[in-house]
Formats: sequence, C-alpha cells, structure tokens
Amino acid sequence: MRDWRRIEAIQIAHRDWFRKWEATNPDGPGDFDFRALVRNSIRQLNAEASIPFVIEYQGELVGQLTVSNILHGSASTAFIGYWISPEVAGLGITTIAVALATDYMFQVVGLHRIEIDIRPENASSLRVVEKLGFRFEGTKKGFIHINNDWRDHSVFALIREDVPQGLLNRFLNH
Ligand SMILES: CC(C)(COP(=O)(O)OP(=O)(O)OC[C@H]1O[C@@H](n2cnc3c(N)ncnc32)[C@H](O)[C@@H]1OP(=O)(O)O)[C@@H](O)C(=O)NCCC(=O)NCCS
Repeated sequence: MRDWRRIEAIQIAHRDWFRKWEATNPDGPGDFDFRALVRNSIRQLNAEASIPFVIEYQGELVGQLTVSNILHGSASTAFIGYWISPEVAGLGITTIAVALATDYMFQVVGLHRIEIDIRPENASSLRVVEKLGFRFEGTKKGFIHINNDWRDHSVFALIREDVPQGLLNRFLNH
C-alpha cells in the first residue's frame, strides 16, 4: 500500500506512453483508482493467484512486473506482464526483471511454464522476450481488451527445461 501513490504519479504523468498498451474495460471506461488496484493485487497475492512485484532502479520504484493467473499442480503455469516509466526505458531494466521473476517462479515457486502475451505492434516489448529467448508459440485472436478494443496477441513462453542453469544466467552469459 506504500507504493500506490508513486505508481499513480508515474501512470498519470506519462499517459501517452502507457495508453496504447493498457488493459481496458470492455463495458466502458472506468475511473483510475490505483489504491483499489494495489488492494486487489494484495488480495490476489493472498489467494496465491498472483505475485505483484515492483521494479526498482537505484532504490526508486520505476515499474511493475506482475505474475498472474498462477496455476499449481499439473498445469504449474503463469503469465508475466510489465511496464516501466519512460524516464528509465531502454536501460535493460525490464529485461533483467523478467529474467529474475522467471527464475524465481521456476526455482522457488516450482512452476513449469511462463507465458508472456504481447501485441504484435509493441516492438519494445517484443524485444524483451526476444533478448531473453522466449519461444514464439502463435497468435491468440482478440485475446485481451487493450486501449478500447479486443487485440490479437503473440504468445511467447519458456518451460523450466529450457533454462536449466537459470534465465538470468543464460542471458548474462550469451
Ligand atoms: C516494454 C517495456 C516494458 C520495455 O522496458 P525497458 O525497460 O525499456 O526494456 P529494455 O531496456 O530491455 O528495452 C527493450 C527495447 O525497447 C526499445 N527501447 C529502448 N529505448 C526506448 C525508448 N526510450 N522508448 C521506447 N522503446 C525503447 C528497444 O527496442 C529495446 O531493445 P534493445 O535493447 O534491443 O535496444 C517498456 O517499453 C514499457 O513499459 N512500455 C509501455 C508498457 C508496455 O508496453 N508493457 C508491456 C505490455 S506487453
């Protein structure tokens, strides 16, 4: 709950940066309520359905990385989503954050598969999964309501066997 004001400040200050890639409500525009969003994240965390990480750079919150739709048991899978402030874009911060979170989910939580879904127009986000060697698996038609319409998404994934030495280790040593 300490973080919601900082998240709100970044999101409000850079509307043009985020709008194009932002999930929207198919039933019509809602109000931004970042405190409610953080509360919901905590609820999801307590239900073990999601892990909301913040991304820090030089001790400052600069973005979020959320592991969502966590399934244990025979699926042992989850999705990763992320955003970062344009003030620190292009420094490789999100790429490192995704590697750290993927390793945590495989090695500590014990998941087997991580999926990241990206609009084919989102060149910056596509570079994140490309640099990390996520596998392209196909297209989900009209998968998520983004920027006021149902958008196709390219599916990228890794399974634990792809990175026996860890994803961060593979990324840094290639
Ligand atoms: C996608 C995003 C999280 C990438 O974060 P990042 O920390 O900048 O990631 P990286 O530094 O590894 O850069 C990834 C690519 O972004 C591009 N990039 C670099 N600087 C950039 C800038 N100032 N503006 C836009 N894109 C930039 C480059 O193609 C870069 O690839 P490269 O390392 O081969 O040059 C960030 O652009 C973002 O928050 N975008 C808005 C929200 C969003 O799209 N979320 C993802 C939805 S799937």
